[in-house]
Amino acid sequence: MWWLITVLSFLLGRVCDGGITSSYIREAAPSTEIPKKDFPPPSGYNAPEQVHITQGDQIGRSVIVSWVTPVNKHPKYMTYWEANDKDGIKRNRVRSKTTTYRYYNYSSGYIHHATINKLEYNTKYMYELGKGNNTRRFWFTTPPEVGPDVPYTFGIIGDLGQTHASNQTLEHYLGSRKGQTVLYLGDFSYADVHPYHDNEKWDTFGRFVEKSNAYEPWIYIAGNHELDFAPEIDEHSLFKPYKHRYHVPFRASQSTSPLWYSIKRASAHIIVLSSYSAFAKYTPQYNWLEQEFAKVNRSETPWLIILLHSPMYNSNNYHFMEGEGMRVVFEPWFVKYKVDLVFSGHVHSYERSERVSNVQYNITDGLSTPVKDPSAPVYITVGDGGNIEGIADSFTEHQPDYSAFREASFGHALLEIKNRTHAFYNWHRNQDNVSVSGDSIWFYNRYWFPKEESTYSSSTKTA
Ligand SMILES: [Fe+2]
Repeated sequence: MWWLITVLSFLLGRVCDGGITSSYIREAAPSTEIPKKDFPPPSGYNAPEQVHITQGDQIGRSVIVSWVTPVNKHPKYMTYWEANDKDGIKRNRVRSKTTTYRYYNYSSGYIHHATINKLEYNTKYMYELGKGNNTRRFWFTTPPEVGPDVPYTFGIIGDLGQTHASNQTLEHYLGSRKGQTVLYLGDFSYADVHPYHDNEKWDTFGRFVEKSNAYEPWIYIAGNHELDFAPEIDEHSLFKPYKHRYHVPFRASQSTSPLWYSIKRASAHIIVLSSYSAFAKYTPQYNWLEQEFAKVNRSETPWLIILLHSPMYNSNNYHFMEGEGMRVVFEPWFVKYKVDLVFSGHVHSYERSERVSNVQYNITDGLSTPVKDPSAPVYITVGDGGNIEGIADSFTEHQPDYSAFREASFGHALLEIKNRTHAFYNWHRNQDNVSVSGDSIWFYNRYWFPKEESTYSSSTKTA
């Protein structure tokens, strides 16, 4: 086996003190933004646009459908029906709640959110928005009932933006035809890098991702580019565009903020955290997470997954140590509750850690080196969607022991949960054909099968 690892390492790049730093270089699509005019609204007066869906409750029997009508708030409803009712005879109608917002010199269209409840599991539904000639039709499939051995595949995308590279990422993800729900790791439109946080960029982003997000739920988390705090133009309200445009089912998990919440889907319990909200002891997020961990039932949902924007283990010089504050506060719980995986974005490259923890440190003992820990999660950074800020191509020169694999390429990942013990994970770089894997590994569940995984990446064809 050793010779295979040696050859693999030689092919991939160099082996440092830690894991593998891939020196893979092949030309990818540029991370320059696609012009606004190339994301036109759908034709027709007041046609519904920027359609996106997410889970609407904690167990997957509800969907929140959101869309924008640009000039008139009517019609304020959507219709839906089971897809096997081909003519849509038994249609149901749901009213939307409509909101608008202003941001400096920008006024939004009418943003609709409609929650459909009591859906059947594992069922395809059609839905329609608009009326007359401007009616638009979409569909989605509800997940299987929550249970311990339910297979399910999540796509993982972060820091997407709206560049040519972003488009390549999304096309490759859709081309794999495997993902059933996207875990979206924050940093959406990058409107805030434009003068006055040009909020038309939020509209073009919504149109860009509609081809995925109108048909499958994205589980949203907020990144730093959603903060939109700009006192110089009198914009003081944190997360204003994000909170108006993207609704999440936070109350279903007894959260008091849309910035942290949880859902169960198939065999996974997914916890969303906010890197840009208070998390120290006694804060609302801290108190909520303490109670949330105590509720997790691994007999019902074996896979415990955390999503947060700023990675806790990151050996890239970009955003180095930014996640350290939250690591100090939350990592002991991640180990105690045997979290399987922590996905982050923020750093615009790819990195996967060993199972490590650094919880023994206290202010007097000086023990501050991460150590291998079978109860610890694997930390994975997938901030490589391909946004306007470009690639984070400056890894620390000494690859730390905790870092198993890292590469400065754009891409996305897939997590294929097979049953309560095994999940196949695969990261795909945009430069390759969709059947080629950039990094793949079988993960073993920490609660049901806490065996050590092979940490070495295989760069192989997966199909
Ligand atoms: Fe970020």
